[in-house]
Amino acid sequence: MPHVSPIVEKGLDTLNDVRQGKLDLSWMNSNPQGWGVKAIPRDERGLGLEDINRVGNYGVVPDGGSLHGSMAPRGSEIPEHMPSLGCYDINDKSLVWADNVAHLYDEAVARQWSSARDIPWDQLKPQREDLEKAMCQVCTSLAEIEFIAGDMPAKWLWHINHDFHEVKLFLASQIFDEARHMEVFRKRALANGGGLLRSSPDAENQLRLILEAPNFTTGSALMHILGEGFVLTLFRNGEMFSLTPVEKKIFRLCMQDEARHVAYGTMHLKYFLEKHPEREDEIHDILRRGEEATFSLNQAQDTIEARAILAGGGLEHIEDGFVKLKYLFKKQIQEYLYRLRMAGLDRSHKLAIPFELPV
Ligand SMILES: [Fe+2]
Ligand SMILES: [Fe+2]
Repeated sequence: MPHVSPIVEKGLDTLNDVRQGKLDLSWMNSNPQGWGVKAIPRDERGLGLEDINRVGNYGVVPDGGSLHGSMAPRGSEIPEHMPSLGCYDINDKSLVWADNVAHLYDEAVARQWSSARDIPWDQLKPQREDLEKAMCQVCTSLAEIEFIAGDMPAKWLWHINHDFHEVKLFLASQIFDEARHMEVFRKRALANGGGLLRSSPDAENQLRLILEAPNFTTGSALMHILGEGFVLTLFRNGEMFSLTPVEKKIFRLCMQDEARHVAYGTMHLKYFLEKHPEREDEIHDILRRGEEATFSLNQAQDTIEARAILAGGGLEHIEDGFVKLKYLFKKQIQEYLYRLRMAGLDRSHKLAIPFELPV
């Protein structure tokens, strides 16, 4: 037997005791109030997170996350000597919670798709150079911004108390959704004889604002409601920018994912403001800065030219495209203000950017 450390020696001693029949079995009597539950799938979608939250006390989410600082599953018995990992400092439910989050996670798991298999790539066709270049510029821009919604949740995820595991699981699903979005737009740019075109300094300014937001809720308001809200409206109108069934399918599938992300952000802000009405000004302030950055990105020359060429159907119809972009922008603003109202925030008189674009 080689020399082993005290930790390994203790493990070997325990193994030896168990093999010799010196059993403990006290774990069998742990957590008696958590025993005897039987979660049942609600419907044909199978056994969801929502279903296991309906049994016993397992669905009780404390307002203050437990302070043992470990990864112990909520509802399990926590031994007294449980060591803290020292990284969970978001322990207040109101800072991350949304009442729809378990439902959204179940939906996210059920609606995963593959950019390799679920897009009809064989239906791509050679396009006129102006249209293919415009499509590739739009895809470059989307590939640049999509993964902010992976990096931002990742930045906060490991701070969140494990008692709020529904939030952590949902954010994990969002990170993978965004990975798929980044890859699908990159793939579209590279799949039809074109390639990536120009990245955007204006986009980077907006992304920085989201990454550097001082807390999760302000970052979420900026990203889930403002940024992803604008993108959701864009994808909903994806027919406007589609050249073939390939782009239509991409926009439609991404739209489903974005709708979940925006729904979480809206309901989180609602929960937060109900608990912290005194912090409304903080949200207004970050949204004002975000609106300016979003406007700057949306009206950047590379962005509007490429979008208008696609929307108009060619460089010679770019004016028609601008008319459609004006319609789209108005929808983006209307839907953004509506979602904020749903969250309990009225920005209709505080909006930092125009309600409509000039003709
Ligand atoms: Fe996305
Ligand atoms: Fe998203």
